[in-house]
Amino acid sequence: MIELRKITGDNIDDVIALEVGEDQKDLIATNNLRSFADAHMLNTDGIPATPFGIYAEGVAIGFLMYIYDTLDHESFESEVFYGKKSYFIWHIMIDKSYQGKGYGKLAFEKMLMNIDTMPDGEAEYVTLFYRTGNIKAKTLYASCGFVDTGIIQDHSMLAIKDL
Ligand SMILES: CC(C)(COP(=O)(O)OP(=O)(O)OC[C@H]1O[C@@H](n2cnc3c(N)ncnc32)[C@H](O)[C@@H]1OP(=O)(O)O)[C@@H](O)C(=O)NCCC(=O)NCCS
Repeated sequence: MIELRKITGDNIDDVIALEVGEDQKDLIATNNLRSFADAHMLNTDGIPATPFGIYAEGVAIGFLMYIYDTLDHESFESEVFYGKKSYFIWHIMIDKSYQGKGYGKLAFEKMLMNIDTMPDGEAEYVTLFYRTGNIKAKTLYASCGFVDTGIIQDHSMLAIKDL
């Protein structure tokens, strides 16, 4: 069974210890500790950020985080979604020793179900960036209804899904 658990003083060490493979570090712009620190800063600045530990059969196997924000980056100005609210997936990872077993997809789907309840406020979209060379992530996101926007920043594609 896959669960998304709040990160607390009891499990933060387990979640921080999780790692992607050495050859995957370039695919993610962050790590779990940094993301957790970002969540704290964003929440302090009034941007709701939700980090979760991903658990399989009670064992910490991954991390994910989304934020609730406005799509107001200047490079989106001519897009239909400019200025609209979105849940933005900040980070998702499954520890290298637990990848390829279906856990990432189950956790991602669970997160989308959580976002469907609009926990931080109404939004029209879910958005994320993935490295254009990250075929596994691209396939996963496409299978969950994300569509490439064609907007590429720092070798990463912005993909979007209607809520
Ligand atoms: C991407 C990641 C979260 C996926 O988690 P996972 O547990 O390894 O993936 P799953 O076993 O659940 O597979 C999920 C989907 O990925 C895709 N996938 C998996 N392996 C793949 C491969 N070798 N090639 C292409 N697609 C693949 C498939 O769509 C698969 O779904 P399906 O089995 O229904 O077809 C995980 O591999 C990871 O942490 N990678 C490193 C960090 C990273 O890239 N994070 C995303 C940044 S945008």
